[in-house]
Amino acid sequence: MKEIDCNKEAWGLLSQDHYATFLNRYQKGAYQLNSIIQKELGNVTGKRIIHLQCNTGADTIQLAKMGASEVVGVDLVPDNVVYAKKLAKELGVNQAQFIESDIMKLSELHMGQYDIVFTSEGVLGWLPDLDVWANTISHLLSEDGFFYIFDSHPFFLSFDESKLGKNVTEIKYPYFGKEPDESEEIGGYASEVKEGAKNYFWMHTVSDIINALTRAGLHVEFFNEYPENYYNIGDMDEIKGTGLYEYVQNKDKYPISFSLKASIYHNRK
Ligand SMILES: C[S@@+](CC[C@H](N)C(=O)[O-])C[C@H]1O[C@@H](n2cnc3c(N)ncnc32)[C@H](O)[C@@H]1O
Repeated sequence: MKEIDCNKEAWGLLSQDHYATFLNRYQKGAYQLNSIIQKELGNVTGKRIIHLQCNTGADTIQLAKMGASEVVGVDLVPDNVVYAKKLAKELGVNQAQFIESDIMKLSELHMGQYDIVFTSEGVLGWLPDLDVWANTISHLLSEDGFFYIFDSHPFFLSFDESKLGKNVTEIKYPYFGKEPDESEEIGGYASEVKEGAKNYFWMHTVSDIINALTRAGLHVEFFNEYPENYYNIGDMDEIKGTGLYEYVQNKDKYPISFSLKASIYHNRK
């Protein structure tokens, strides 16, 4: 698919910088999953986890450090996998492995019965088809395992991001839009922004997400909405020690991120 090929190339421009940023954060002892994820994911000791869209593996490694017995990170970009392996080696983490794959094709390449399928922080918009995504999650989950996601709230993604800091909420990206947004810029949260990197981002509504998981045979245990973001989108305040950011002036006005936990639906009738 043309759009996925572009995204692969665009994300590849960031691999080395992300690796350097995450290594630096680890070396300063400042790396952690954000506080909402930590609380909602719970104790991962002894769990087998697959981490979808793992980038250069920083969160995958953190899950291993938190006690998971086995963690497999998956990402589209070959250099992300190379740098993820390098990061794990430099940090002395042996329980993390990494696979290069498009999530849209993962179920053809990889089998597994995982206790947790995990994905977070900037993932869904890169995927063109949530039914394929949800069926892949179902394919990878063990009977008593669960799926967990923390990502940008779809409603928040429709705003013009350059105006939010000035307290202006203006719809720029249609909430119900089916065509992907085309951009020439990528990065900014763990590297400089790179220009001339054509990439495509799909809008998925809240009902798209929940219905895709339900159609794939999953039961939603919770869906939570939050006014905090996982990176500073511009003019946000850092909430110290949490890995989260907020707009103090419009804290109660709209959701910025969401989380969802789901498990295989067992008909108990
Ligand atoms: C914003 S990053 C995820 C952030 C991640 N939580 C982190 O710790 O940096 C999005 C990731 O999705 C990956 N990606 C994009 N499209 C993908 C696809 N179709 N299949 C697998 N990975 C994909 C990108 O290569 C990138 O690493």
